[in-house]
Amino acid sequence: MKKHLLALVAGLALSAASFAADEIKVVVDAAKPGPVIHRNIYGQFAEHLGTGIYEGIWVGPDSKIPNVRGWRKDVVGALKNLKVPLVRWPGGCFADEYHWREGIGPRSKRPVKVNTHWGGVPENNAVGTHEFFDLVEQLGAEAYVNGNMGTGSAQEMAEWLEYMTAEGKSTLADLRRKNGRDKPFRVHYFAVGNETWGCGGNMRPEYYADLYRQVATFLKTPENNRPLFIASGGNDQDTKWTEVLSKNVRWNFDAIAHHYYTFPSGKWEGKGPAVGFGEDQWISTLANTLNIEKTIVKNKAILDQNDPKMRLGLYMDEWGSWYDPEPGSNPGFLVQRNTLRDALLAALHFNVFHAHADRVRMSNIAQMVNVLQAMILTTKDKLILTPTYHAFEMYTPFQDATSLPVSVQNNPTYSVAAHSMPTISATAAQGKDGKLWLGLVNADATKPQELTLDLGAAVKSAKGRILTAAAMDAENSFKAPNAIKPEPFEAQAVNGKLVVKLPAKAIVVLAVER
Ligand code: AHR
Repeated sequence: MKKHLLALVAGLALSAASFAADEIKVVVDAAKPGPVIHRNIYGQFAEHLGTGIYEGIWVGPDSKIPNVRGWRKDVVGALKNLKVPLVRWPGGCFADEYHWREGIGPRSKRPVKVNTHWGGVPENNAVGTHEFFDLVEQLGAEAYVNGNMGTGSAQEMAEWLEYMTAEGKSTLADLRRKNGRDKPFRVHYFAVGNETWGCGGNMRPEYYADLYRQVATFLKTPENNRPLFIASGGNDQDTKWTEVLSKNVRWNFDAIAHHYYTFPSGKWEGKGPAVGFGEDQWISTLANTLNIEKTIVKNKAILDQNDPKMRLGLYMDEWGSWYDPEPGSNPGFLVQRNTLRDALLAALHFNVFHAHADRVRMSNIAQMVNVLQAMILTTKDKLILTPTYHAFEMYTPFQDATSLPVSVQNNPTYSVAAHSMPTISATAAQGKDGKLWLGLVNADATKPQELTLDLGAAVKSAKGRILTAAAMDAENSFKAPNAIKPEPFEAQAVNGKLVVKLPAKAIVVLAVER
């Protein structure tokens, strides 16, 4: 792999210096900085679902697997490397069946329930409020707690907030203290229900908007621990929820949670396999992913109309690939393998989110470990880092960086069968480290592409890393955990202009040397 890349880099220096008419040119306007790319765009989601929490991250303090107060050291260590900014918990659909009082106090006395939503398996409530905050504190992340609007009540949510945040004398704060936590937990984000159009209660947006106004009236915390309040919004290309919520809700309301999943077939039934697919499903998946930009643009236009002061965030609260369940697995556990295709899918999302960072101030991939498009897969005491993990890690310099306008000129159309999409996706930002960072994706599964980068000023070279592989469905496995991982990558300037030759199906993240 390294030899291949060096040959590639050497080839770059020989490239032509001037722009030919059909040359693919990536133009970055460094003189016109855009909004900050909120680090929360790199948020994670952990639900009580399959082995997403139990086994995957939580093994309990008595486990032989090395852990800190029950949380796996290896998994937490790997996640720290991603600079995880926030974790959303306890669901998902599970959130609307979760009763927080069942997850506090001695673990041996907590009730065992049936996880009716996910596989019908026993839920022993071993991970509750205190354990969740221990995890986010170990990660150095912020806490996003999703309240129960479905089977819960305004009172239950209000009391949970009091339990978590009350400072002085209060029976609930005393209960928290008795359970081992003296100072309040810091709750950064609190959502009122999840997917209330579906698993969260099958509501109409008008009905939910009224309920939200009623419930949010009672959600109070000390001023210095006020979370940002999130309303459950629409799904896929829907705009109705954003419309109704942004027009009608005014109480304790900071953001709308929108969900968008990518299915290779574009359909819920028969989504398509995670591995062993052809180029038709490679492109259909990536093209379906890029359609997320359409929903962002449409929902943003509504927000711009109803919220011109830009107070509300559009949180892409759940996103990622969703395939047919792994054969032999419990279909309710949403187990799927993770390949190079998922890494490109993640990078395409990042590039779109950066371009809309004015409203997209949070996004959470579904999900963190062992579920759907996971960062990490575990079995017993072993773990593997997925290609998606590597995409997240490569993009860490973009967290809290300042976005820069980018355009791709002469972007070829990549077409296979009935599907087509732009071949190149690009993003650029001024990092907090002072460097200018570029994120580039070549979606074409077979054809390398040469790009010329116009950064408005002379550049010497660029250094960074590439993620690619020979097969579209290259993956890491417990037998070959490092089959796919980032490798060093360099590009040289010719007459002050960077020339980057992107191999087929690749992600490149580069820091420009000026
Ligand atoms: O991430 C899995 C599920 O997908 C979540 O529980 C739900 O919110 C969505 O439908």
